[in-house]
Amino acid sequence: MDKKFYVTTPIYYPSANFHIGHCYTTVIADAIARYKRLMGYDVFYLTGADEHGQKIQKKACETGISPQEYVDEIVSDAKDLWKRLNISYDKFIRTTDQQHVVCVQKIFKKLYDQGDIYKGQYKGLYCTPCESFWTETQLVDGRCPDCGREVIEVSEEAYFLRLSKYQDKLIEYYNSNPDFIEPKSRKNEMLNNFIKPGLEDLCVSRTSFDWGIPVSFDEKHVVYVWIDALSNYLSALGYLTEEDTLFRKYWPCDLHIVGKEIMRFHTIVWPIILMALNLPLPKKVFGHGWLVVDGDKISKSLGNYKDPREYIDKYGVDAVRYFILREVSFGSDGLFSESALINRTNSDLANILGNLVNRTIGMINKYFDGVVENKGVLDKELDNKLINEATSLKDKVHEYMDNLEISKAVDTIFELLRSCNKYIDDTMPWILAKDENNHDRLSTILYNLLECIRIATVLLKAFIPETADKIFHQINTQNTAYDSISNFGGYESYNKVNKAEVLFQRIETK
Ligand code: ME8
Ligand code: MG
Repeated sequence: MDKKFYVTTPIYYPSANFHIGHCYTTVIADAIARYKRLMGYDVFYLTGADEHGQKIQKKACETGISPQEYVDEIVSDAKDLWKRLNISYDKFIRTTDQQHVVCVQKIFKKLYDQGDIYKGQYKGLYCTPCESFWTETQLVDGRCPDCGREVIEVSEEAYFLRLSKYQDKLIEYYNSNPDFIEPKSRKNEMLNNFIKPGLEDLCVSRTSFDWGIPVSFDEKHVVYVWIDALSNYLSALGYLTEEDTLFRKYWPCDLHIVGKEIMRFHTIVWPIILMALNLPLPKKVFGHGWLVVDGDKISKSLGNYKDPREYIDKYGVDAVRYFILREVSFGSDGLFSESALINRTNSDLANILGNLVNRTIGMINKYFDGVVENKGVLDKELDNKLINEATSLKDKVHEYMDNLEISKAVDTIFELLRSCNKYIDDTMPWILAKDENNHDRLSTILYNLLECIRIATVLLKAFIPETADKIFHQINTQNTAYDSISNFGGYESYNKVNKAEVLFQRIETK
């Protein structure tokens, strides 16, 4: 088995502080990275910031500070946000890092020397807020198809990347690698909207502003957006440097996770750059949907959002993580609102998970002074059903995670927790507790519950790590390895559980 896993998020523009949309991609990538680590993979999780461009230069200028100072501030804020969200990235790359700058210059020069980049005249329609160039045919009612705002005409000397040359090779790659683009529907979108009409060469330099990486052989140009941005996935690993151990170990990338609006850059431009560099292509690019509020994409340019830390402060980090992972089926758009976040937290985290852990530990303390053992007094039908569900959980979750059906993976864990709550209702421990003769049966029931909680929590650790650690502590188990949950019975009989503490307070709303 290939035991390394390289996963990335987009590098976000630090033109304003990051919002819940950026949290969305980053938490999902984090859960995947944690899950793979749990399975024993050697994981490299990369995220970062895409710091160049006209828009950032303009913003900095308006604020009266240098672009570098401007992005430094936002990046340090972003790192704080990722810390608050328990994001376990292995590296945070910044496109102003010297290693990245040099790498991009080398890539640009190489592509120029071999004729994949050429000098020409750029005439085009440009949407400043989106930093995107569009052709006439891509516009919707004469406006930017992404944000609906006006585009401006620009004309200047510029370098171009010869996308057209690689068109057939790209289509061939799609066909022989059916898993390259996910969800599958996006592949047709790329083929029909961009590739089949004929790929237009991409403008890759600008002379109209200077907050960018200088083209090393033509200094009035700066590298424009996509060669700069996409190369981060290579430069972060030390590609084209003396110290390229990471590159040799982790490339090709296993999974790029991106929002659907930048799919075309990751599934068209990026593979073409890599082909031109004669490098293997990423194994998968997943384009997810958007979180929307009142019908609009949450975005920096619309400013329709709060600082995500407000939600973390109010409801806890795992309420936010859980919402992101569970609420939206990965690939589709999903509604974000504070009330949806509250409902999810109450219905799942407080009522199902919190309640189960609390009741189970409470009963063990009450009836057995905190210590139960597996007495093996089974009710064949009831117990076997629960035990089977628990021991098959690992494989079910794995199947969903393999398909990147994150929401289903999470829900499957909660299905086991629901079954546990039902098992309590069915076995009615409080009735059994009234008769000394039922002592061993009662002990077995509570043991079964503890073991199910342990099994679920081993997996929950990938998704809501802080809560998982709290549960491990409350039930007092050291047996938390992935391999320990294939069989039933890993919870240490005779361990004494700790005091039950509320994991999630029900959030009352007016
Ligand atoms: O595009 N819902 O940066 P960016 C879900 N620098 N995800 C969202 C979202 C929303 N409402 N809003 C943002 C860029 N995202 C480039 C990328 S990569 C080499 C360069 C997430 O700051 C989603 O992952 O505009 C989206 O693709 C990304 O943030 C865009 O971030
Ligand atoms: Mg954007």
